Amino acid sequence: MSAELTPEKIKDNLSTLLIGSEVRVAGEVGSTNDWAKQELARGAAPGLAVVADSQTEGRGRYGRTWVSPPGLGLYLSVLLAPPVEKNHYPLLTLMAGVAAARAAAAFSRTVLGLKWPNDLLVGTRKLGGILLEYCPGERSGVVLGIGINVNNPSFPDDIENLATSLRLANGAPVDRLALLRSLLNCLDEEYEGFLLGGDREIVRKWSERSPMFGEPVSVVQGPHLWEGTALRLDDWGRLVIRTGDGREQVFDAGEVTLRRAAE
Ligand code: BTN
Repeated sequence: MSAELTPEKIKDNLSTLLIGSEVRVAGEVGSTNDWAKQELARGAAPGLAVVADSQTEGRGRYGRTWVSPPGLGLYLSVLLAPPVEKNHYPLLTLMAGVAAARAAAAFSRTVLGLKWPNDLLVGTRKLGGILLEYCPGERSGVVLGIGINVNNPSFPDDIENLATSLRLANGAPVDRLALLRSLLNCLDEEYEGFLLGGDREIVRKWSERSPMFGEPVSVVQGPHLWEGTALRLDDWGRLVIRTGDGREQVFDAGEVTLRRAAE
């Protein structure tokens, strides 16, 4: 089920206030995040969503590759200009996670989960990811990139045991266009909530969709490794864990592993 993605089909009956006010679609790009940054530099307005059928340089956090074959996944980036201080931006990653989880849940036969800060999971496998990039300069803005593995029948050997798609999880293909439209609608709703000052609400919604809390985790930050129990997110969306010596450690970035799942 690989419905062609066109701006007209994507925008048909879209009920959004901002997100997708303009939609552009390309067959193949390097990275939709780079495309959105170029559009920002050319003066594009917030709300623009750029969508590609495939990416040759799709990327995730820490410069990792985001596998982006044609016709199978969703690869999109949305341009935003949130009127808030930069220290609120990490909440946008959580906001996008909530939106992606809500949208994908309606197309999933399995419960989906969120792993801090930017992973959408089926069980312990990665179904989707979010890459938020801030663009400074005269025309500053935020690019919110989202990738979801929709109808991938398999993955390259190096991520075969780490990744999954809705098709693999469901045992049946999913309508990519319908999922994309739902994602834009959910993003718009969640972003409106964020703009109305709903930081705590985002943290609450994110936390209720995460299997992390109360679980043993390790967090890698650069050369450092911490082990402990995931306790909560604070009001800024930072992860709080309790380490073996009983202290609370707060992270604003890091790579989390759910230790029980890794055993
Ligand atoms: C991650 O899990 O580390 C983030 C993955 C983000 C992938 C998406 S696909 C659309 C957009 N363009 C990119 O190059 N990356 C994001």
